[in-house]
Amino acid sequence: MTLEYKMKRIKSGIPGFDDLIQGGFPENTTVLVAGGTGTGKTTFGLQFIYKGAEEYGEPGVFVTLEERAKDIRREVKSFGWDFKALENKGLIAIIDGVSSAVGLPSEEKFALEEKFNIDNFLRYIYRVVKSINAKRLVIDSIPSLAFRLEDERQIREVLLKLNTILLEMGVTTILTTEAPDPQAGKISRYGIEEYISRGLVLLDLQERNIELKRYLLIRKMRETKHSMRKYPFEITNTGIVVYPSGEIY
Ligand SMILES: Nc1ncnc2c1ncn2[C@@H]1O[C@H](COP(=O)(O)OP(=O)(O)OP(=O)(O)O)[C@@H](O)[C@H]1O
Ligand SMILES: [Mg+2]
Repeated sequence: MTLEYKMKRIKSGIPGFDDLIQGGFPENTTVLVAGGTGTGKTTFGLQFIYKGAEEYGEPGVFVTLEERAKDIRREVKSFGWDFKALENKGLIAIIDGVSSAVGLPSEEKFALEEKFNIDNFLRYIYRVVKSINAKRLVIDSIPSLAFRLEDERQIREVLLKLNTILLEMGVTTILTTEAPDPQAGKISRYGIEEYISRGLVLLDLQERNIELKRYLLIRKMRETKHSMRKYPFEITNTGIVVYPSGEIY
């Protein structure tokens, strides 16, 4: 008999990706998805939530601090994803963190209060996660969360608290963040996100023959064997697809 500890893996819902990380994210971990603008961070998070609910029956919460919930629902229709249907079934909850930031009343079922403070924010997420029994959580994005704080430096405290709460909630989480310059070792904006995260996925655009191509690098994934090479991916009309066997171009 072999004594092999089989950890539960949470499927990313991204074709080609799970093969790179031994079948999925280790359960109850926090993974940082970092990249420059337009690299696909939000799409990655939305796909994790949508496919989690649709294909694996795992409820998920998406906290949006950048785009309005109704814009998200419209945009993802181009991938054939019907968020509303899964929200109605109690499999997805979108928390609107945008309306309150611009001082507008929210039309959403779940929305952050105008008076923003760390403890309310964390408590609210906790409540929504429990209310739909979520197994997955996405916060898009860390920099926009930091902008809501009185002092951006408080983000460290928020992330440390968040980390503890996430472990307790038992959710598998994706946090998105800007990567100012991964090549120069500047992986995240505040320089702390990658330390609280047990996994780090870098999304990148690189020029190949006067065209920008998308690449992805699994920079860290604890408890997981993974390669350190960059894999090409595309955003197709069904969402993100990764090509683990290498070049497709
Ligand atoms: N339906 C679609 N089909 C193909 N590509 C798409 C589609 N929708 C969006 N894209 C691509 O995805 C990009 C946006 O991805 P996304 O919003 O996930 O990036 P991001 O890293 O979150 O960007 P930001 O810095 O603006 O937050 C677009 O610029 C476009 O290239
Ligand atoms: Mg985005």
